[in-house]
Amino acid sequence: MKRAASGSYGQLKAPKFYHQGDLEFKEDGESTKEEASRVADHYSARRNHTLEEREASPIIHLKKLNNWIKSVLIQLYARKGDAVLDLACGKGGDLIKWDKAEVGYYVGIDIAEGSIEDCRTRYNGDGHLSWKKFTSRLLCADCFEVQLDKALADDAPFDICSCQFALHYSWSTEARARRALANVSALLRPGGIFIGTMPDANVIIKKLREAEGLAFGNSVYWIRFGEEYSEKKFKSTSPFGIKYKFHLEDAVDCPEWIVPFHVFKSLAEEYDLELVFVKNNHVFVEEYLKVPDYLALMRKLKALDEWEVAYLYLAFVLRKRGQPEQTQTSSKKDRGKLHIKKEDITYLKARANGTGQEEGIDTTEANCT
Ligand SMILES: C[S@@+](CC[C@H](N)C(=O)[O-])C[C@H]1O[C@@H](n2cnc3c(N)ncnc32)[C@H](O)[C@@H]1O
Repeated sequence: MKRAASGSYGQLKAPKFYHQGDLEFKEDGESTKEEASRVADHYSARRNHTLEEREASPIIHLKKLNNWIKSVLIQLYARKGDAVLDLACGKGGDLIKWDKAEVGYYVGIDIAEGSIEDCRTRYNGDGHLSWKKFTSRLLCADCFEVQLDKALADDAPFDICSCQFALHYSWSTEARARRALANVSALLRPGGIFIGTMPDANVIIKKLREAEGLAFGNSVYWIRFGEEYSEKKFKSTSPFGIKYKFHLEDAVDCPEWIVPFHVFKSLAEEYDLELVFVKNNHVFVEEYLKVPDYLALMRKLKALDEWEVAYLYLAFVLRKRGQPEQTQTSSKKDRGKLHIKKEDITYLKARANGTGQEEGIDTTEANCT
């Protein structure tokens, strides 16, 4: 197969998608659910590190770089008083960034129960004086399976939605990828912004094709594809479910899925989300790096294996079509809480009725994933 300059899938025709209403949101097979659980268990099991442990991490420079990229995205697009939806929020690593942007209301959702609990304690200030100026709500749910607009009817619309280093977990099936985008679209106001970071499929496939076998990596990461990809070819008609195993020292060890960006872009358009920009993280750094503090970090990073990992990712910004009636969602200060108790966390589970339509929302703890 000839590769186009624009990317591994560049010359291939965009696949024909099922239309909404056809097979849309078909119930995932058991293995898809098991894989989602494996991802949840992996992240749930990761405990919070102390500051000393964090500084000793073999990927500390990469962590700082990723935080810087997320900070830039947030500073570029979040405005004072905004209502924020953080999909796959993890342990709340971005809470301080949102606070710096002076947002008004924050809703964080993650599939991993342990991570949401860590997010809760971090938001509450870990026993220290409360630091934040925005109210919040936390949910434990599979954001790529549950229809979130019902659960968040009183919280929406949001001015900005963020999904950092996680959207690729939706790409295991078309139904999940669609659910992810449908959720974002349904919850954003017209003109609202969707920011995110995820693996760059073009880079991963380029590296796979350059590798001798089906695995590649360096001292801090490896990626391995299964034997089914021994020819290193990918059908344009099957852009979902292209799985690989990703290991990143001190961070990730679970299945992930390739997200061909042009497919992501055209699918997003179906949900009224238009691309503002996409940049590989190396390019992002070159373009936005002006702060002297980070120049030193970057000089050091570029000599390390961690810099190669940064190349595996991209940053994107999408905008929800339409003219906003007002440029910002009305204040949600009356929503959410400044201190979140364990029992304030909402647990959601989609109940499929065979056609994949969600029947209801259960808010009991036992139903998390
Ligand atoms: C690499 S971490 C990123 C966490 C956070 N966004 C950040 O940037 O610090 C990926 C996160 O995605 C979450 N995740 C994976 N699949 C998910 C799903 N189906 N629904 C919600 N969260 C999911 C994981 O539990 C994990 O917290």
